[in-house]
Amino acid sequence: GAPVTADISALEEGQRLIMEWRGQPIWIVKRSKAILDALPTLDAHLRDPKSENKDQQPAYITGELRSIKPEISVLVGLCTHLGCSPEMKAEIRPEPFDPEWKGGYFCPCHKSRFDMAGRVFQGVPAPINLLVPPHHYENDTTIVIG
Ligand code: FES
Repeated sequence: GAPVTADISALEEGQRLIMEWRGQPIWIVKRSKAILDALPTLDAHLRDPKSENKDQQPAYITGELRSIKPEISVLVGLCTHLGCSPEMKAEIRPEPFDPEWKGGYFCPCHKSRFDMAGRVFQGVPAPINLLVPPHHYENDTTIVIG
């Protein structure tokens, strides 16, 4: 499939832009400082907090934030268990399924949970983190996916 271009100039904090690339949903999410600050505090609860499994992202995506720019997260929006589309719950507030919830993605099919970097929690069916697709910045507000 051809690369797709996303204009993120109007993307506001907490918002998600949904694109399609190779028949898959691509999520581009602008994360708040509160969300970014919460990510490192979750590491002990995650299966692969440093995202060391190289199948989950391109080589230039490293570290806990799993992004090129800290605030902008780009993910393939499909659960790594059986491919359902997780729901985004970006607010940091108690959820019935997890009072410690710090925002992230929740898959309604079999209750897999991911944080706002797409990192999978322990004890859920999804085996690996959400995938980060190949992408780069054409300029400050234009992302090319693919
Ligand atoms: Fe998401 Fe099974 S498909 S938990």
